[in-house]
Amino acid sequence: MCDKGVMKTFDEIEVRRPALAQSYLALLGAQPGRPLALFAPRRVGKTFFLDHDLAPEAEEAGMLPVYADLWLHKSAPLEAMNHALEEALDDLLVPTSNGGKVAKTQVKKIGVLGASIDLGDEPHRRALPESPALRLDALVTRLAGQHKGQVLLMLDEVQTLVDAPDGVSMIATLRAVLHKRRKEVCAVFTGSSQEGLARLMNTAGAPMYQFAQIIDFPFLGDEFLRLLAEHFRKVHPGKKLGLDELREGFKKIGFKPALMRDVVKAMSAEGITDVKRGVKNYMASDHQVAIWMALLNSVDAFDQGVLVAVANGQPPLSQSTLKVLEAIPGSKPTISKVRSSIEKLKRNGILSKNAVGTTVDDPLFAEFLLRRGANKALL
Ligand SMILES: Nc1ncnc2c1ncn2[C@@H]1O[C@H](COP(=O)(O)OP(=O)(O)OP(=O)(O)O)[C@@H](O)[C@H]1O
Ligand SMILES: [Mg+2]
Repeated sequence: MCDKGVMKTFDEIEVRRPALAQSYLALLGAQPGRPLALFAPRRVGKTFFLDHDLAPEAEEAGMLPVYADLWLHKSAPLEAMNHALEEALDDLLVPTSNGGKVAKTQVKKIGVLGASIDLGDEPHRRALPESPALRLDALVTRLAGQHKGQVLLMLDEVQTLVDAPDGVSMIATLRAVLHKRRKEVCAVFTGSSQEGLARLMNTAGAPMYQFAQIIDFPFLGDEFLRLLAEHFRKVHPGKKLGLDELREGFKKIGFKPALMRDVVKAMSAEGITDVKRGVKNYMASDHQVAIWMALLNSVDAFDQGVLVAVANGQPPLSQSTLKVLEAIPGSKPTISKVRSSIEKLKRNGILSKNAVGTTVDDPLFAEFLLRRGANKALL
């Protein structure tokens, strides 16, 4: 994709990390039954990595990668996993070549997976169990058997499990199946919420850290920045972006590749090479301000007040914060109201907890809130 001769736009710049994927596969191979949990902040490229690097490398190694986004089915993550596995089984049993697409749709229409199995090579299989837990177990076994190789289960946004009703027992089920079927399946989890991670690690009865190996997923590095600089130079012969400045800018925006690409695109449009100024301009752009205003307005006035207090580094449960919150019409602030507001903001991924305490999850958003507060009286 990012072959130098072919690349025509900034949007086509992609970094592949096959060696990183291989190192994860090697880790999985070295500890059967123990999943890897890759954690990193939002928008740094976790899903992209699963899709573009891990899945192809797993296939190369003879595995069958199966992807499930648990966030999409927040209330029923186990069903989401099962659904992904059923789809994969369906794909194996009903080939997509020679008119298979039609057959596949028909099978889905009658809505019974058992039927597709009856139509496949192994006509005497029993229907899959109804209970999601048993179904997961049966699906993994069947899928590995059919593929004649290990299944790689990629569970994206795994922190969703802690918020799901019945999350504790689901984690226990997952853990049991991954252990019992360790010859047939291995798993990689990704998660983005630090808060979710913290709770996942401590979920009663099923401490995740004994179960999964937690890994800090690495940010993109110089390779990505060099590609941006190279393309910039191609578009603006004679103009050069400094690698050190790019590094600094990339760090400033939280190592988010799509955001960095947009910053450099905007710099390219303006014809400027000062990365610091580029980042500043981008953050002040109507487009970015609209995104942050929408995020701010997604919560009510009281929550906004709490959010601003946190962004200001005020202890949210202090008397002085309560005093400030009193200015919000109809608020009647109390400690417990602030507490539940913080919980809500954490669940929304706007606030998160880290070693320092409760902070705004996105540092750029925090900066926006501060700047906005400096420009006018917020409350
Ligand atoms: N290796 C890469 N090379 C180039 N661009 C990338 C790469 N990885 C990610 N991106 C860009 O960053 C965007 C965000 O990546 P992705 O969705 O994978 O992040 P994420 O960590 O899964 O985010 P979220 O926490 O929101 O799920 C992608 O749409 C893509 O444009
Ligand atoms: Mg993602």
